[in-house]
Amino acid sequence: MCGIVAYLGNKQAYPILINGLKRLEYRGYDSAGVALLNGTMNVFKKKGKVQDLVDSIENKSTKGTIGMGHTRWATHGKPDDINAHPHISTSGKLVLVHNGIIENYAILKEALKKIGHVFNTETDTEVLVNLIEEVQKTDKISLEEAVRVALTKVTGAYAIVVMDKDEPNKLVAARKSSPLVVGIGDDEFYLASDGTPIVEHTRKVVYIKDEEIVTLTRAGEMSIMSISNEKQTPFIQELEMEIESLEKGGYDYFMLKEINEQPNTIRECIRGRLNAEEGWIKLSGVDNMLNKLINAQRFIFVGCGTSWHAGLIGEYLFEDLARVSVEVEYASEFRYRNPIITDKDIVFAISQSGETADTLAAIQLAKERGASIYGVVNVVGSSIARAADEGSYIHAGPEIGVASTKAFTGQVTLLSMIALTLAHKKGTISNAYYRQLITELELIPQKVGEVLKIENQIKYIAKEIQDAPNALYLGRGYNFPVALEGALKLKEISYIHAEGYPAAEMKHGPIALIDENMPVIVMATNKSAYEKIISNIQEVKARGGRVIAIITEDDKEIRELADYSIEIPETEEPLTPLISVIPLQLLSYHIALLRGCNVDQPRNLAKSVTVE
Ligand code: AGP
Repeated sequence: MCGIVAYLGNKQAYPILINGLKRLEYRGYDSAGVALLNGTMNVFKKKGKVQDLVDSIENKSTKGTIGMGHTRWATHGKPDDINAHPHISTSGKLVLVHNGIIENYAILKEALKKIGHVFNTETDTEVLVNLIEEVQKTDKISLEEAVRVALTKVTGAYAIVVMDKDEPNKLVAARKSSPLVVGIGDDEFYLASDGTPIVEHTRKVVYIKDEEIVTLTRAGEMSIMSISNEKQTPFIQELEMEIESLEKGGYDYFMLKEINEQPNTIRECIRGRLNAEEGWIKLSGVDNMLNKLINAQRFIFVGCGTSWHAGLIGEYLFEDLARVSVEVEYASEFRYRNPIITDKDIVFAISQSGETADTLAAIQLAKERGASIYGVVNVVGSSIARAADEGSYIHAGPEIGVASTKAFTGQVTLLSMIALTLAHKKGTISNAYYRQLITELELIPQKVGEVLKIENQIKYIAKEIQDAPNALYLGRGYNFPVALEGALKLKEISYIHAEGYPAAEMKHGPIALIDENMPVIVMATNKSAYEKIISNIQEVKARGGRVIAIITEDDKEIRELADYSIEIPETEEPLTPLISVIPLQLLSYHIALLRGCNVDQPRNLAKSVTVE
């Protein structure tokens, strides 16, 4: 996902922009650039990392107290110096950075070419900056008015910042579907895709809403217009983010830091919402929608990737405990298959970033068809959080590593609390079992901490299978979605092809793959299907496969049977995923490290996919 940073004030913009872009690196990108205005417009762009951009600028002039920066994740046009942002209009007067996709850029490009605009790149963004220039020139209007009029001709998603060579005291920004935040400093303004480049300078922020155009001036004025030309009142909020949460805190990678944060982030998710001693769970979002939730005939969970896996666990929890029907949908499929949705449905949107385009579009479709939307989101103030009717934040703090870890356990913790609340209110589980489960849920952070202590044992196993060309993850019941999640973790950061499968499905095909080169990771903690899991392990062993079993502490039988075993503390079956996923996160991390992969920014991946 692209990243945007911009500055207008009394400091030199360049160091602020570069540091801001480095804060946004976690979003995934393939090129970077900055534009600085100091009498002349200086634009520097480079394929590669932000440091490559800095190295390429060397001793060129980077002066200027107004400027913008961008990290690009290529959508239209290959990653190279030319297609990198910022983009410049034909006359050289306007410069623009953009996060999103202009769907109708080809038609606009043809029309602009016919009236003399020259294009040097393959991007949709260059079309946008020339459209704004054409409108400004033809209609003889202000920059902000030209931006507004031009955007009425555009279909697609955008977060943009524009500046005019002849107006060094003004920045204009706008958004639709892609996030953009204004930071308000002392006689200075910041703009960024999220709070991470802003928080070290100011906590006063305004989240730009969809189809709003913001004008910022050096005199300290901020004005917001809607695309339909109505003045909007800025809503100034406090940015809830700690700067140290953006630092690695002594860990080699953000991913390892975030894996180790999970005892605390699960505690944060529970804090003030669950009291085992007094026997209650309290979620304001649930309370505000309680009747609908209690009487819902069907829940639809939509998400992508890891968030979809969390939704699968939610399905097991809601059906097992609250006895209500759940469908789990890939957001990208749900939004295009013309699904049956009624006003009796409740759609849960599960998303760490709260900006995933497919998930956002899926809930917009569901809303149009009358469903109620509940957000399970990490990033406060994100688009999905604001589009939902009600919701709960998972309070995992910024997740920087592209591979989601603490957000996953935060999502599952929250879904567990909602399932328990509904089950208790509906009387679908006994009060005794309810108290047992919330008591156990309160103990989960400590049990996760115990698993983190056996990292060295997991590192040893990683060495044993680091060269495997493929891997198979098997699980049953609550551990089936965990097997899927473990496989996703391995493939996305170590580039080993891995598949998750229901353990019983193995004999319906995948067993043909088993040989001594195929490590099989078996989630074997289920009490309810213990004998069957043992049979699965024996089937793998009989064909020469190597078995790595995730087992409950002191399970001697499977320890004897498996080639390697990782013991985790026992817990109630519905809460198992919160613990059994931890060894899989560490295993994928160490295998990726051994294979020399960039763990925090795996190739081709972005932290949040705000494009379709
Ligand atoms: C997970 O490790 C991946 N990085 C990816 O699958 C991610 O879960 C997916 O893109 C959804 O993102 P979201 O939770 O921010 O919506």
